[in-house]
Amino acid sequence: GKFLLLNGPNLNMLGKREVSIYGSTTLKDIEEQVQKVAIENDSSVDCFQSNHEGELIDRIHEANGLYNGIIFNPGAFTHYSYAIRDALASISVPTIEVHISNVHKREEFRHQSVISPVTEGQIVGLGIYGYELALLALMQKTRGEK
Ligand code: DQA
Repeated sequence: GKFLLLNGPNLNMLGKREVSIYGSTTLKDIEEQVQKVAIENDSSVDCFQSNHEGELIDRIHEANGLYNGIIFNPGAFTHYSYAIRDALASISVPTIEVHISNVHKREEFRHQSVISPVTEGQIVGLGIYGYELALLALMQKTRGEK
């Protein structure tokens, strides 16, 4: 299948940003690893990161009909972007929400996701491995689709 790896604000800073929480792996490393797993499974992954809500929304709209699934870490938009939630609700591509850190162990404002009601599922607190797990789950779910 064909999948989209979408990362929201500040995730371009991975490897430099709050290393004790998010680790020292860069976004480029993560993207390459997910692409490697996709290729091993006769699949492909396009990657996109943006710090801008509207750019993420445009990319979500464009994903409709183009991808079998989306792996999405919306960053802090997770907690308050009804616009991103509505964008996901407007398409029919299954999306798995990924958080590197265990948001439930952190500040109160990170405990709620306004996105998860419109996603297939959520992977939280498993570090960068969560991205790969999301891909595996989406490939399993969409097996046999064009
Ligand atoms: C995050 C958790 C969010 O609360 C935070 O704003 C991020 C990263 C994570 O991957 O753990 O930017 O989505």
